[in-house]
Amino acid sequence: MKNGIMRPGHVQIRVLDIDEALEHYCGLLGLIEVDRDDQGRVYLKAWTEVDKYSVILTLADDPGMDFMGFKVTDETSLEKLHRDLLDHGVNVDVIPENELVDCGRRLRFISPSGHTFELYVDKKCTGKWGIEELNPEAWPRGLKGMRVQRFDHCLLYGDELDATLDLFVNVLGFYLTEQVLSDDDSRIAQFLSLSNKAHDIAFIFHPEKGRFHHASFHLETWEDILRAADLISMTNTAIDIGPTRHGLTHGKTIYFFDPSGNRNEVFCGGDYSYPDHPPITWKSDQLGKAIFYHDREVNERFLTVLT
Ligand SMILES: [Fe+2]
Repeated sequence: MKNGIMRPGHVQIRVLDIDEALEHYCGLLGLIEVDRDDQGRVYLKAWTEVDKYSVILTLADDPGMDFMGFKVTDETSLEKLHRDLLDHGVNVDVIPENELVDCGRRLRFISPSGHTFELYVDKKCTGKWGIEELNPEAWPRGLKGMRVQRFDHCLLYGDELDATLDLFVNVLGFYLTEQVLSDDDSRIAQFLSLSNKAHDIAFIFHPEKGRFHHASFHLETWEDILRAADLISMTNTAIDIGPTRHGLTHGKTIYFFDPSGNRNEVFCGGDYSYPDHPPITWKSDQLGKAIFYHDREVNERFLTVLT
């Protein structure tokens, strides 16, 4: 958290049908609906998150990610990040408070990879769902589906990975945890962290800017991943791959799709990181093992099905 950016705070996902999306994100994943706004957007949270929401669903003609927001510790850090982005040549739009419900002013910018990001300080703190702050129980009863614990990260596809790495490391204060390099050392994938997590954001090279690969949600155990797989089958939800393990980050994972075609991941475990850990490097001839450690080959969908 070098420059005051604390964690991924929200992601706005475009869906083609709100009711179907809610059945998926609430009924299957176990997110909790907390609000709606006059644009028809629906606000969801995972039960361990203290802020009011982390996922915003918005009705659109095409699926994908509108933006991902990161929460900053304080206004002084946000002001410095604003100046540093401008000094770096990045255009910054200021979105007024309450454009997202119960959220403060947001600074919005586009990365060289073509993705829209936001930084903000304030969002209404409503506490963990279903348990108290004083003498809390282990977990709340009444959770649905997979009972996901938190929105964890996004994986995004786009070009200009060198410039994107420069922005995230040298301006925003992330550090590189893991990367995939080609034979000539050009960048194929990069995983970046703000925390002790293996990644808070990740990018994979793709010739087209601004594509969305997945939003990921954390589960506690491998048993929870198997249970998620059962629920995916019970609901005839489109599955991508898994349960399996990644080589990159070593997390245990399953990928599936929402009814609009957006990919989701639930995962558990994986490596921890500190800023002094040397980045792990995978070479592109090991890409299959890096992505799917057991199959050791990348399925075509993983590389080509994007929103
Ligand atoms: Fe992921």
